[in-house]
Amino acid sequence: MTTILGLSGSLRKASFNTGLLRAASDAMPEGTKMVIGTIEGVPLYNGDDEAEFGTPEAVERLRTHLSAADGFLLSTPEYNNGIPGVFKNAIDWMASGKGADAFVGKPVAVMGASPMTYGTVLAQDAWWPVLRTLKTRPWFEGRLMVGRARDLFDSNGNLTDADMRKRVADFVQGFVASL
Ligand SMILES: Cc1cc2nc3c(=O)[nH]c(=O)nc-3n(C[C@H](O)[C@H](O)[C@H](O)COP(=O)(O)O)c2cc1C
Repeated sequence: MTTILGLSGSLRKASFNTGLLRAASDAMPEGTKMVIGTIEGVPLYNGDDEAEFGTPEAVERLRTHLSAADGFLLSTPEYNNGIPGVFKNAIDWMASGKGADAFVGKPVAVMGASPMTYGTVLAQDAWWPVLRTLKTRPWFEGRLMVGRARDLFDSNGNLTDADMRKRVADFVQGFVASL
């Protein structure tokens, strides 16, 4: 079965980006599935700790999901016009040492949501040099920048706007069809 690993770069319970990922998961085509990973529990990367204690469980879990997945979907917030540190930290951990192998040739798509007008366009663009360095295979046919998120999500971070749910479905189904 075609499987995608979906990962949100927010730790907030009512995160727009985690809600965006749930909406994408709901729209996965018949016979495919999305595994939603979490960056919760990933410590700050420290090479000394890695040498002494090995890979943390939360990172090991993400690596296992990534290895098993046919594609990788990042749902990124934007902080100060860039990638939030907690998200980059999780990817850095996953890609440390032998972990980098799982990224090579992996189809990857990026989307994001923000209360501001431009809907994470700068954070999304900031991901591509990282994902290029990791030798992933970018999917560029679709773009999904969800701006003015407060008008589209409820207070629990669920995407309630029907038009946007359709756009999310088109985006994720386009990505899956490319695999
Ligand atoms: C430190 C910080 C910096 C931010 N900078 C930006 C920004 O540059 N662009 C933007 O669109 N939103 C920015 N925001 C607002 C976030 O988009 C907003 O907090 C959003 O809800 C985060 O995503 P989440 O709902 O998935 O947690 C920033 C928020 C924080 C806390």
